[in-house]
Amino acid sequence: MSTAARLIILVLIAYTAMQPLTTNADTKVLNILSLNQPGSGSRYEVISLENVGTPDEELVVKGNRTTELGPPNSEGLIIMEITEFTADKTGYHAHTRIVAIPAAETRLSPGALMSAAG
Ligand SMILES: *[C@@H]1O[C@H](CO)[C@@H](O)[C@H](O)[C@H]1NC(C)=O
Repeated sequence: MSTAARLIILVLIAYTAMQPLTTNADTKVLNILSLNQPGSGSRYEVISLENVGTPDEELVVKGNRTTELGPPNSEGLIIMEITEFTADKTGYHAHTRIVAIPAAETRLSPGALMSAAG
């Protein structure tokens, strides 16, 4: 095998080995937090480093949190406040909306319900 052919094979192997790294090169997830407290609310948060290795590299926190504003009403709906937020180098941005969600969706998962009933 010629030196050139060996070099090409080596480069191909290196390239293949680096694939998983290069696909995620611009965003590196540092931490994911997911909390759910039925009857109270939930919190979901992702902390990541974006544009890794570039002059635009920055730490970004994105997520949402929900707060149940009371017990289910007569139609079985829970009024809930949902806030979606992002914190990056431009500051903290949040958007809040109020929704009505069927109580069952905020409570136990179907699997958990079944084992609780059985
Ligand atoms: C919060 O964000 C996560 C991830 O994007 C999503 O799965 C979840 O549905 C969101 N929750 C609400 C209440 O929007």
